Amino acid sequence: MAKVADKYFEIDQWKIIENGYNPAYGEVAESVFSLGNEYMGIRGFFEEGYSGKKLIGSYFNGIYEQTKPDYGHYKGIVDFTEYMVNSVNWLYTRMEVDGEQLDLAVSEVEDFRRVLDLKTGVLTRSFVWNTKSGKKIRLLFERLLSMTKVTCAAQKITMESLSGAVTVQLTSGLDFSEKHQMTDENLWKCSRENVSFGEVITLGIEGTTLQTKKKVYSSAIIEADCSNVKEIVQEQSVAAQMDFELKEKTPVTVVKLVKNITLKDEEEQATYEEQVAVADQKTFDYDSLLSESVEFWNDVWKHSDIVIEGDDENQQGIRFCIFQMFQTYHGAVKGTNIGAKGLTGEAYNGNAFWDTETYCLPFFLFNNKEAAKNLLYFRYKTLDEARERAKMLDCKGAFYPIATISGKECCNLWQHASLQLQASTAVAYGIWFYEKIYQDRDFMKNYGLEMLIEICRMLATRGDFSAEGKYGYYCVMGPDEFQMMVNNNCYTNYMAKFTFDYTLKKLGDVERDDEAAYKKVTDAIHFEEKEAVAWAEMSEKMDIPYHEDTKLFEQHEGFFKLPHVEVDEIPVEDFPLYHHWTYDRIYRNDMIKQPDVLMLMLLFNSKFTREQLEANYDYYEHRCIHESSLSPSVHSILASQLGKHKEAYDFFGFATRMDLDNYNRNTREGLHTTSIAAAWMNIIYGFGGLRSDGEGLSLNPSIPENWKSYTFKINYQDETIDVTVTKEKVEIKTEKGIPVSINVYGKPVELTKDTFTCPYQA
Ligand code: BGC
Repeated sequence: MAKVADKYFEIDQWKIIENGYNPAYGEVAESVFSLGNEYMGIRGFFEEGYSGKKLIGSYFNGIYEQTKPDYGHYKGIVDFTEYMVNSVNWLYTRMEVDGEQLDLAVSEVEDFRRVLDLKTGVLTRSFVWNTKSGKKIRLLFERLLSMTKVTCAAQKITMESLSGAVTVQLTSGLDFSEKHQMTDENLWKCSRENVSFGEVITLGIEGTTLQTKKKVYSSAIIEADCSNVKEIVQEQSVAAQMDFELKEKTPVTVVKLVKNITLKDEEEQATYEEQVAVADQKTFDYDSLLSESVEFWNDVWKHSDIVIEGDDENQQGIRFCIFQMFQTYHGAVKGTNIGAKGLTGEAYNGNAFWDTETYCLPFFLFNNKEAAKNLLYFRYKTLDEARERAKMLDCKGAFYPIATISGKECCNLWQHASLQLQASTAVAYGIWFYEKIYQDRDFMKNYGLEMLIEICRMLATRGDFSAEGKYGYYCVMGPDEFQMMVNNNCYTNYMAKFTFDYTLKKLGDVERDDEAAYKKVTDAIHFEEKEAVAWAEMSEKMDIPYHEDTKLFEQHEGFFKLPHVEVDEIPVEDFPLYHHWTYDRIYRNDMIKQPDVLMLMLLFNSKFTREQLEANYDYYEHRCIHESSLSPSVHSILASQLGKHKEAYDFFGFATRMDLDNYNRNTREGLHTTSIAAAWMNIIYGFGGLRSDGEGLSLNPSIPENWKSYTFKINYQDETIDVTVTKEKVEIKTEKGIPVSINVYGKPVELTKDTFTCPYQA
């Protein structure tokens, strides 16, 4: 089904621009203009209050609430869920002139313009307010989150009268009273309210979540030249009300310097108290925060930019994606993960999925090692929860959750939570990928091996031998969520075999490399040699459903016999299918939600022949309806590899602009953060033809018809590789001059600082 762009924002290479305000796009713009720094995220809402449709969303990574719905008492069925909770509105502002409160839903404004600058990370909004009393006031709102001091953020408001003297009454505060939209409840209890007026105004308030007892202490220093300051302390908010006497054409600025300190775990208590005790001391100012932010983003663009000549829409799109990836995660906070919507909305409950290792990790591996390592560390930190989950499912070892915040399984759709093994095998894949790129032996010894052993234990107890003696998985669901309780899903079996083989290899490597470390890990979890023997047999006998005559991998046992649905003939009105077809109707045919066999062929690309790829692509491609936004990029990458360039470009069509053009009509709920990572892969692995699963790296670049050229960077180990592709040639060089061996169009090349050039091969 064709997706249609809903174009609203102006095209610009480095900025996202909204020119003129249209309330119909209010919530979409809130998502698109979200700011985040991994530690916290805030939607682009109007801080001065707004009576129209909105989601005043302010989130902190790792700050969540929980519910315990009663789903009955079948063993293994999750009766518990965690969701990232809407927290303090630290931008809280109210503005009044002659008794009229500013509210863009009803106030008369002109010259509205909102700009997110991808080079500075600053969001600005300006307009002229024509008050009912005949005053004209130009307003400029700026906001910024520090990417380096992640607890810090700032807001700047500049007011200028265009029509003589005006008194503006401005209230600025910290507000925990906003509801969590999904539950329609407020989930905070507040304490430590504090307002003090000296040379500057300081505010402070602590919120504690009702069930999980997580804490956020929010503090602000307000720098303003004002009079008649009054404090407003309520149960869930603190604020200062101030008067500003504006003279014509003389801008007046109010700066709010914010620190938000979170307490996620008990062991952070002492550090939290220390930080709270000094929160009201000024440690930064707006300009220093801004210059650090500019420096941070300069560095990002220096090492991670993708430049597209000849296609401004995708240029803006991909830069927006890269910006969002760094905003969501950049290695700042150890032990957190990436929610499917990042920190931009409540949808998917802030939960992290297999998306992290499968879709996001490649981006971080080639752009930010520390972030990649932290993501994997999260899985180590939550290994105990995965062990618990394995027990709940009558398995040994570790069963990683399909959706989680704290490490516990939060998905209350039992068929996903109990039948999908792909989060666990994704962790093994992530460890393998990280090790392949960085050869970090310490990581393997300290964390990796233990996770691998525990995942194998789960795989060894969840699977079984068939009557014919083949090993496989029964009653599972693979990545294609339209098929449940299937036997021998090809993806699941293949990934399990990979996990067994890789773990066995690593057991040997670590033992050889550092016997003491090997003993420490294996003793701690009582690993026995006989387990390795059993895994080797399971791997050897793994049932991979493959038909040599057609070169097809069968998605699961019996898939080829399922009734066929021509997906192109499904009437457009039937979409989204979950709303128009019963659950079982979706399940009982050969229609696919997202790549399953094809996903495998991307992850382990070098293991498959071109013939196999071609046959499977042709078979599965037209059965897939891409109900998941993660899906089209995978098809695009494989289409490029097969030389189906037009098809590759069509699938790429909306990847970079999924949210800017609201293709799925649900951007208002938050950004599709993990499919933003897929958009990056779509260019680097698709058009760039990068492959990283074989020996070293290889490139096989192609260029879309309407692009003049494109340049991308691969941060590989200690080097940055620069690749430029035009329709005539491919140019590659390393930035530091460290020799790197790669393959270009199938030929080995030793890269140096001197540009390597070869003719373009379509
Ligand atoms: C997809 C899953 C994915 C989840 C979160 C679902 O629609 O089918 O593969 O993990 O969204 O992005």
